[in-house]
Amino acid sequence: ALILVLNGPNLNLLGAREPDHYGRVGLAGIQAGLERTANAAGHRLHFVQSNAESELIEAIHAAGRDGVGFILFNPAAFTHTSIALRDALLAVAIPFIEVHLSNVHAREPFRAHSYFSDIAVGVVTGLGAQGYDLALRAALARLDPDNT
Ligand code: DQA
Repeated sequence: ALILVLNGPNLNLLGAREPDHYGRVGLAGIQAGLERTANAAGHRLHFVQSNAESELIEAIHAAGRDGVGFILFNPAAFTHTSIALRDALLAVAIPFIEVHLSNVHAREPFRAHSYFSDIAVGVVTGLGAQGYDLALRAALARLDPDNT
């Protein structure tokens, strides 16, 4: 299947941005590791980062048209604000896992609320770049229940 990894605003700065919260691994490093794992399991990965809510919405709509089987989504700050992104995911009805590098429950109270968690398959938060890998493995297990 095609798996979409979608990353929201400011995650292009990963590696340099607040490393105590987000770690020192950049987004390109995360992408390379995920592509290796997905390809080894016989799946394709499509990797998108945008700082614009509209582009993230369009990427979700395109995923619906392209038959994407699973989405890993770090909505970044839109986690806490975006009903429009929530509605886009509900519209395409593609299963997704919500990923956060930092533990959103250990930070400012406004980060504890997510517009996505109740409609996600699951949520990974606080495990840094490894969280994406764990989320991908969970997605692969759901896509290929016989091979895991
Ligand atoms: C984040 C957590 C959000 O609260 C924050 O706005 C981000 C990144 C994370 O990956 O830890 O930009 O989604």
